[in-house]
Amino acid sequence: GASRTTESDVATNVIPELSIVLTPVAMGGLSIDQAFVQEPEHRPRAVIAEAAGIPVIDLSPLAAGDQASVEALAAEVGRASRECGFFVVVRHGVPDDTMARALEAQRAFFAMPAEQKAAVRRDEVAPLGYYESEHTKNVRDWKEVFDFVPHEPPPPATVTDGELVFENKWPRDLPGFREALEEYAKAMEELAMKLLELIARSLGLRPDRLHAFFKDDQTTFIRLNHYPPCPSPELVLGVTRHKDAGALTILYQDDVGGLDVRRRSDDEWVRVRPVPDSFVINVGDIVQVWTNDRYESAEHRASVNSHEERFSLPYFFNPSSDAMIEPLEELVNGDSPPRYEPYNWGVFFRTKRSSNFKKLAVENVQI
Ligand code: SIN
Ligand code: FE2
Repeated sequence: GASRTTESDVATNVIPELSIVLTPVAMGGLSIDQAFVQEPEHRPRAVIAEAAGIPVIDLSPLAAGDQASVEALAAEVGRASRECGFFVVVRHGVPDDTMARALEAQRAFFAMPAEQKAAVRRDEVAPLGYYESEHTKNVRDWKEVFDFVPHEPPPPATVTDGELVFENKWPRDLPGFREALEEYAKAMEELAMKLLELIARSLGLRPDRLHAFFKDDQTTFIRLNHYPPCPSPELVLGVTRHKDAGALTILYQDDVGGLDVRRRSDDEWVRVRPVPDSFVINVGDIVQVWTNDRYESAEHRASVNSHEERFSLPYFFNPSSDAMIEPLEELVNGDSPPRYEPYNWGVFFRTKRSSNFKKLAVENVQI
């Protein structure tokens, strides 16, 4: 069989930070680079095609609703967060033209020549904000990405080895790109705060209970994803299976489909059916910790296909650097003792030592 390709073998074809083979390389009888080939147990086999079990929630009570309908909405969000960790929201209040501008900017970015995209590549190869599981971390994702942080921090005085630096690099010669995405980021922050309030309410807490975690130095980031068609989609993943480490993710996906969520009841992968004008919301590990496992951060992945490119646009709503994350005191008691040790979000996030997080788990909480 073909041996794994080394970085230098594919250097001319890969922009490492963008994680994409621009020209598929014929290797060992395969038309794709071995670096992208998943171990057999991780390859995307059959998925359940319908969004069965992933609730669709209408957020319009937030705009017009009385207290009772907002409480009912919070209960729905709570149930979805508890039962599957994922839900789809419609009538969310994000303006159509804000969406349209952001999506156009995204397509324009990825349509640029490779050299122009390479000009804004990050020094950090590892993707921000989530970790990859132990088994699969050496396999490349079949996609290219652009990340930015809406709350850009001042540059750090010193950077230790392996630490992420959150500094935006904007492409030149792409008029309106930055403005469109900054406008989108604002709309996302508004929506994220509303969802955070619904989550707090659903737990019987004051709506503003979690606000203090998201100050101006929040580590939120936005990722533009582009999944090109792949000649062997059954061997690769666009995003390796993982859980989101942050608080909440608000994902726009186009109408192609490819987001698969691991269903808790039977461990099957369920494809999240694209719903027009919707966002897919999932609660991350932080919400799981805050709620002491009442709500679940579900495993998910992105599959690709051979005939159509796919775009998605996740907003990763993350706390301030100095936030200490631990089960909320209101939610722990003698019957429900804390299942996690406190951890400093900024340290965890900047150093991406995902193994730290695993150590926090007491009992057999699987991360
Ligand atoms: C992700 O989970 O990071 C991306 C999912 C998607 O593109 O659908
Ligand atoms: Fe994710």
